[in-house]
Amino acid sequence: MKNNTKNNFDYKDIFSMKNKKVVIFGGTGNLGLNFSKTLSSAGAKVYLLDKVKKKLDDKNIFFLKCDVNSKKNIENNLKKIIKKEKKIDVLIYNVYSKPMDYYQKFEKYNLNTWEKVMKTNLTGAFLASQNIINHFKEKKISGNIIIVLSTYGIVGPDLSIYENLKKHKNIYGGKHSLTTPVSYTSSKSGLLGLMKYLATTCGKFNIRVNSLSPGGVFDFQEKNFVKKYTKKVPLGRMASWSDYNGPILFLASDASSYMTGSNLIVDGGWTAW
Ligand SMILES: NC(=O)c1ccc[n+]([C@@H]2O[C@H](COP(=O)([O-])OP(=O)(O)OC[C@H]3O[C@@H](n4cnc5c(N)ncnc54)[C@H](O)[C@@H]3O)[C@@H](O)[C@H]2O)c1
Repeated sequence: MKNNTKNNFDYKDIFSMKNKKVVIFGGTGNLGLNFSKTLSSAGAKVYLLDKVKKKLDDKNIFFLKCDVNSKKNIENNLKKIIKKEKKIDVLIYNVYSKPMDYYQKFEKYNLNTWEKVMKTNLTGAFLASQNIINHFKEKKISGNIIIVLSTYGIVGPDLSIYENLKKHKNIYGGKHSLTTPVSYTSSKSGLLGLMKYLATTCGKFNIRVNSLSPGGVFDFQEKNFVKKYTKKVPLGRMASWSDYNGPILFLASDASSYMTGSNLIVDGGWTAW
């Protein structure tokens, strides 16, 4: 492969997303919306594919309804964008699902819930990547895939931080109190494997695949939880929604042009102990 990198010292060029078409699965979620605004401000046209519609106020950000549990839905939406834009440059897989009984404890974890989470978090990423890689190869695009993991894709949870939380009052509702369930860690670790497989097999096509592992965002969780979580973070705080905007721009732009197969951990130091 040719080394076609040129010397570039201009940070605006290095981080520019001008003329780039980006697709974010799970794009209307909290992080997805933050990512889309950042990438748009750097010059990208961004498509948010999600099962939930949100009001958007940026002329470079578009919404398409998509359920990643449907192979056809993924295929058809990507086809639609490619037809309109001629190409896609960057795909971000940011979806995660919290079906009924998601927070059930391990001993009683329901097979049905496990399978739903695996399908949405992991199988959806496999299908989206398969589709987009075929597009990148067909059009000879130096494409870029970013998979959003979690610190819990690389380390197991410390369940003691969830002890004595109020039932029925976790921020996402449901009848169990907040926790990190087995399906989350397992699906996120699976995504780490998917990312590495894609990176090592697609490098020769100049396709880059990396992941971002965020730590927990402060979202008005119970004080008791926030205190215990924060104690484990060297920077002494939970993340804010915008803490991941710089990292996503880095991964999506030429700033990370020699990076593939890497997992960028941005967690305030949680995994550094
Ligand atoms: N928020 C955090 O503290 C945190 C920490 C670490 C990692 N993450 C990761 O960041 C990503 C985004 O998290 P978030 O907090 O913004 O979550 P979020 O729930 O706000 O966003 C997830 C999005 O996925 C969408 N989605 C769910 N099922 C879908 C389906 N079947 N088809 C299409 N879309 C579907 C939802 O509608 C939602 O918009 C997730 O992958 C999550 O694991 C979040």
